[in-house]
Amino acid sequence: MVQFSLPKGSEVKKGKVWPGPTTANGKKPKRTKDFKVYRYDPETGENPRIDIYRVDLENCGPMVLDALIKIKNEIDPTLTFRRSCREGVCGSCAMNIAGGNTLACTKAIEDISGSVSVYPLPSMAVVKDLVPDMTNFYAQYASIKPYLQTKSATPEAERIQTPEERAKLDGLYECILCACCSTSCPSYWWNQDRYLGPATLLQSYRWLADSRDEAKGERLDALEDPFRLYRCHTIMNCADTCPKGLNPAKAIGEIKQMMVKRSM
Ligand code: SF4
Ligand code: SF4
Ligand code: FES
Repeated sequence: MVQFSLPKGSEVKKGKVWPGPTTANGKKPKRTKDFKVYRYDPETGENPRIDIYRVDLENCGPMVLDALIKIKNEIDPTLTFRRSCREGVCGSCAMNIAGGNTLACTKAIEDISGSVSVYPLPSMAVVKDLVPDMTNFYAQYASIKPYLQTKSATPEAERIQTPEERAKLDGLYECILCACCSTSCPSYWWNQDRYLGPATLLQSYRWLADSRDEAKGERLDALEDPFRLYRCHTIMNCADTCPKGLNPAKAIGEIKQMMVKRSM
C-alpha cells in the first residue's frame, strides 16, 4: 500500500499556551476568546507550531485584526502579520481565519463560534508566521500589463467613456489584490507556477472590459495557453471567499467567451 507522509519539518506541532489575561483587581475577565495562531520562522529550522493566546474581549476591538494587534502589543511582540489600512482597502491583512480566507480587519470576532484559528493564506510559502510570500502573485499580476494600453493619438483631454462603458468595470475595479481568491483555488494550489489564478485573471478582464484599452488582441494572445487561463475548472471557491463580494469565476468565464468569439 502506498504511504504518504508530510515532508520533514512541515508537521504543525503544539506550541505555547500563553498565560490568560487578568483584570486590574486580579480577577479573570468576564469575556475571553482563545486565538490559535500559526507560528513559523523558516530561519530557525523548527517546525511550525500553533500558539494559543487568550484575549480579554471586554478590552479589545471587534475584529480579528484588533485581537492580533492586542496580542502583539500586550502578550507576544514576536507575532508577525501584515496590516495597513484597517478598513478592507489595502488587502494586506488577508489570512485564513476560522477555515476561510478573508481580511482580518473586516472579520468580526463575534461571528466566529468557539476558538479562532488563524493561519497564513494557504499554498504560499511563509515568510514568517502569518506573512505569505507574495512574490509570484505580484509577478503574475505584472505579467498581464495592468494599465491602459493605447495605439490611437493621445486626445487633448480625457479618453471619454459613456456611463454604460464605465459600468462594465463595476465588480472588477474594486479588487484589492488581497489574494484570498487565488489561494482558495485548488487549481492554483497545484499549478501556481503556470496558472494565473482568479485574482490576476479578474484584473486581466478589468482591462479587457475597458472601452478605452486598445490592446485587447495582444491581451488575449497572452492568455491563449493551456495553463494561464484554462486551468480554471469553475470550482467557484474564488467567488465564495472574496471579502469584497467579487466574482472572479464570472470574469474568467467572460475571458473564455471573448476567446471563443474571436476564433469564430
Ligand atoms: S477578487 Fe476579491 S479575493 Fe480576489 S484578490 Fe480581488 S478582492 Fe481579493
Ligand atoms: S472558479 Fe476557477 S478560479 Fe475560481 S476557484 Fe474555481 S478553478 Fe479557481
Ligand atoms: S488592513 Fe488593509 S485590508 Fe485589512
